[in-house]
Amino acid sequence: MLTAHDFPSAHAADQAGMDVILVGDSLAMVALGMEDTSEIILEEMILHSRSVMRGAKAAFVVADLPMGSYEVSPEQALQSAIRLVKEGRVHAVKLEGGLEMAPQIAKITGAGVPVLAHVGLTPQRQNALGGFRVQGKSTAGALKVLQDARAVQEAGAFGVVLEAVPAEVAALVTEKLRIPTIGIGAGPSCSGQVLVQVDMLGYYPPGRFLPKFAKRFGDVWGEATRAIEAYKSEVKGGSYPSPEHTYPMPKDDFAEFEEVVDELEKVSGIP
Ligand code: KIV
Repeated sequence: MLTAHDFPSAHAADQAGMDVILVGDSLAMVALGMEDTSEIILEEMILHSRSVMRGAKAAFVVADLPMGSYEVSPEQALQSAIRLVKEGRVHAVKLEGGLEMAPQIAKITGAGVPVLAHVGLTPQRQNALGGFRVQGKSTAGALKVLQDARAVQEAGAFGVVLEAVPAEVAALVTEKLRIPTIGIGAGPSCSGQVLVQVDMLGYYPPGRFLPKFAKRFGDVWGEATRAIEAYKSEVKGGSYPSPEHTYPMPKDDFAEFEEVVDELEKVSGIP
């Protein structure tokens, strides 16, 4: 599973064979430059989902319900989920939270919309969690992750993202559940893995903070800046565009065109 936030990133993920594409609300930060994910609104998630759906031909696509679009009540959650499916055209929705979100998950799945749950570190609640902190490191914390995962399973979620929990805890939770776990910073024993595409492609400037699980599989930033610098230098140096990048005109036609221009200038008196 990999995130995508627009047509080209979805197209690439789909062509590369991702089983699941996530229109994660991380796009608030990596695509819209927002400070955190709490700023993005449902309408923006719908717009990005529509764009992703045009690029995703084979993958199953899940979109995040953004903060504020589902916590108030199960009815609010269902209305928002329906908008993501009807207007965003996605196949399923994801929401953050465990036991306390079970009524929302039951309501949405009861209406026929598949739900992927998300427990452990839930970035939408970073202010309550004291920042982006690893969850489930103590016995009580690990028990809470397991209880949350069980609750979302019983509520009808088809899978659960486990974010930033110790690998041993994620392995045990995976073993105890009937539904698949998708890990991010949760070790190798989850049923699947997810990463933010911009992070794993290395499409960010040097020095940006990244969590330790975010392995860089490419250097898209390096390639993009190299190409843009080459473009700038060739334009300024006059070597681009060269003849192979321009549209030719038959010599006789051009000569005639010049004559017509001269004639018109003489008649109008305008140089
Ligand atoms: O928003 C997102 O991209 C996510 C993944 C990191 C799981 O929720």
